[in-house]
Amino acid sequence: MFRESRYTYEPTKAELRQYNVVSFLLLPHYRKYVRNLPIKETDHVLDYCTGPGILARELAKRLSKGSLHVADVSETWLRITVKRLAGYDRVYSHRLETLGELIGGGGLDKVICHFVLHEFPRRYQKRAVHQLANNLRNGGELFIREPVSEHHGVGADWLTQVLTDSGIEIRSRKEGRATLLGAYVDLWGVKCEDENE
Ligand SMILES: C[S@@+](CC[C@H](N)C(=O)[O-])C[C@H]1O[C@@H](n2cnc3c(N)ncnc32)[C@H](O)[C@@H]1O
Repeated sequence: MFRESRYTYEPTKAELRQYNVVSFLLLPHYRKYVRNLPIKETDHVLDYCTGPGILARELAKRLSKGSLHVADVSETWLRITVKRLAGYDRVYSHRLETLGELIGGGGLDKVICHFVLHEFPRRYQKRAVHQLANNLRNGGELFIREPVSEHHGVGADWLTQVLTDSGIEIRSRKEGRATLLGAYVDLWGVKCEDENE
């Protein structure tokens, strides 16, 4: 049984400086990733642990009639992202107080989780995945990209199993490699609630 749990994290000044540079260098990666996501302009989308909000800005450009929810366990990152998205309408920010919280009523069309779960301490990772799944409507889609390196990543098989346990039917699993980011796994899935529950 999943219980809510408190977890917060704030980046150090050194991390903030490093991300400013790295995020800029990663812009082509972010753009390509978002371009290839099957998102409609009317979708209600969550960018889970948005960090500096670079990916979120690419998402906002595609949601001319829908809405974008940005969430983070870090107040600092959320403040930076909100500033970055100031020119876009229907953007809602959520400071995650607990890993059980529902966002946008929990009925979102798409949830994106890009290079996030591997950063969470191991004991919170499953809870974060459950939270992602709980925020989707039935039939909604989840897109996760996580590094799979032994030293700084998650196990692709482990993550696939946790998603399945959270009611996500995996539709696609692909491995790839990107400059600066290394090896990663892309998992795309659909929330399938048991009608009899
Ligand atoms: C690498 S950033 C990715 C941000 C964004 N999704 C992207 O792809 O640009 C990691 C995210 O995980 C969150 N996080 C949670 N726990 C963390 C931890 N222990 N160390 C670093 N980041 C952590 C941060 O607040 C941040 O939003």
